[in-house]
Amino acid sequence: MTGTTSAQLLQRAQQVSPDLATLLVAWQHQQGRHHLPWQQAREPYRVWLSEIMLQQTQVTTVLGYFDRFLTRFPTVAALAAAPLDEVLTLWAGLGYYSRARNLHRCAQDVMALHGGVFPRTALALQTLPGIGPSTAAAIASFCFGERVSIMDGNVKRVLSRVLAWEQDLSVTAHVRSLEAAAAQLVPARSEDMPAYTQGLMDLGATLCTPRKPACLTCPWSDLCVGRRTGEPERLPVKTRKLKRSERESWLPWLVWRQQVWLQQMPDKGVWAGLWTLPLLDSDAALAELLGPEGVAQAEPQPRSKHVLTHLDWWLNPRRWVMGDAQAAEVLPRLQALSPSGRWVSEADLALFGLPAPLRKLLG
Ligand code: ADE
Repeated sequence: MTGTTSAQLLQRAQQVSPDLATLLVAWQHQQGRHHLPWQQAREPYRVWLSEIMLQQTQVTTVLGYFDRFLTRFPTVAALAAAPLDEVLTLWAGLGYYSRARNLHRCAQDVMALHGGVFPRTALALQTLPGIGPSTAAAIASFCFGERVSIMDGNVKRVLSRVLAWEQDLSVTAHVRSLEAAAAQLVPARSEDMPAYTQGLMDLGATLCTPRKPACLTCPWSDLCVGRRTGEPERLPVKTRKLKRSERESWLPWLVWRQQVWLQQMPDKGVWAGLWTLPLLDSDAALAELLGPEGVAQAEPQPRSKHVLTHLDWWLNPRRWVMGDAQAAEVLPRLQALSPSGRWVSEADLALFGLPAPLRKLLG
């Protein structure tokens, strides 16, 4: 058996559309989520902000940040005018800080290139920093009723099941075929687009879950080709799995005269632009920095694991409260190690954008 071809996939989609759209829209109205704060006013600034926050972060976590962000930056103009450091500070704890930098750049581009008004099509929205095709489709369908389909990980799962698309989604061409099918499934009426888009998200989050999908309560159950195969949970097929790796770092937590030595991370990579304790790759490198006296006196803090999408990152902090002579001895090595570093008064720590594990550690 060679499996379904992309032409057959399109044909399947055409057969079940518009029934799928009608069923999903009705289900979303009755059973879907309606009380999320970004659903209250379908206003591009609010929807954009929520979609960026929701890209790699769960709804329950985002809820705590969304209102605080809007209070501090009520408009795209206010966000664009804010210093980046303040945006990063408010973002701290949401993780994946490149999102916060792009958020700020995007707000500035909306002001400079679009007269302070978000563009109204998915195509134009995609030209802005941090807005990919799926986020653009979410904003355009929620706010302007554009008939375009979102295509995040949940939607790939839901659609590959309902259409029984068993081709390997590690292959780009197979994702493209699914996108073409998704384009066939959107409702005919643009007024239905917000409920349809939210319905896709709700279905993926609540019923059509990776393991043990709740087919009995699913509005698409009668039309679902994947369900007819008997094992919808085997879809989607994805052979190339995310490779996880491990990293371990040693963090000197140096205190001198109620100040802590912090360094700013480079603009690219994990924790871009945030302030952290210095990060060393080995115990030996830490010993070299601290010297024999520091090694003897520094107190090991509990080792903690920071989990990122690709990486389990183990952090080993060592706290050393130094006197003047000790600080004078260590300072040149510290400056060589972290040229962006500086002493920060413990009372001022709240003013610095710290990643969540360090905020927790330093209190
Ligand atoms: N995930 C991404 N966008 C979302 C939204 N608008 N509502 C709930 N979860 C989401």
